[in-house]
Amino acid sequence: MKYKRILLKLSGEALMGKKGFGIDQERLQEYAKEIKSIVNAGCQVAVVIGGGNIFRGIQAEKGGMDRVHGDYMGMLATVINSMAIQSALEVLGIETRLQSAIKMEQICEPFIRRKAVRHLEKGRVVIFGAGTGNPYFTTDTAATLRAIEIEANVILKGTRVDGIYTSDPEKDKNAKRYDTIKFQEVYEKGLEVMDMTAFTLCKENNLPIIVFDMNKLGNLMKLVNGDKVGTLVEV
Ligand code: GTP
Repeated sequence: MKYKRILLKLSGEALMGKKGFGIDQERLQEYAKEIKSIVNAGCQVAVVIGGGNIFRGIQAEKGGMDRVHGDYMGMLATVINSMAIQSALEVLGIETRLQSAIKMEQICEPFIRRKAVRHLEKGRVVIFGAGTGNPYFTTDTAATLRAIEIEANVILKGTRVDGIYTSDPEKDKNAKRYDTIKFQEVYEKGLEVMDMTAFTLCKENNLPIIVFDMNKLGNLMKLVNGDKVGTLVEV
């Protein structure tokens, strides 16, 4: 196994599946099965999921809502998605622990780094909810921060595109996919991988990123085993 400890970042929108809003149970179960396969293979897995299928702080701001208020609502949305993933994994017999950056004792543990690491060592999937607990940060930044804190070997960013392209493949037929790319090149070419805060945090802490298509079954297992899937961003 190439990566012993990973942080898997999932987008909230991906959970919608074909629905326009909320959580698609079929998609949720698919993701849970994918995660189960690598846990059973001995990989230590932490998960961060966005909340865009339920609420987006930035869009709410356009509608006149205070940005900070909207961001907190977005953080709560990530906790809902985290609970959904937690439940789907537990149905499959996978042990999980949910830790939130905002305290909600009745629902989950507070984020405690040392405890998170112990859970991982015991083979439990640790899900980090509520982002960083601060407004003005994205879930990509939360995922990066947690990945560094738990000393994950890599951050796996599951998207609906199968990697990083020279231009937007949904708009440009001639777009080419990179197998690997350097952090510096991403800056120079102005490619979008994560927001700059998250991306720079990865670069400065030497944390590789792999962008891959999470909706293609089996990809996660291949990645963990070191097969070339998606695009690897490295120093
Ligand atoms: P170890 O015993 O250290 O292996 O870990 P553990 O998570 O099993 O121990 P702990 O006794 O801390 O937790 C038992 C259960 O309570 C787990 O399902 C935890 O997720 C849950 N739990 C622990 N702390 C909290 C909390 O603050 N709030 C909530 N809601 N659940 C908690």
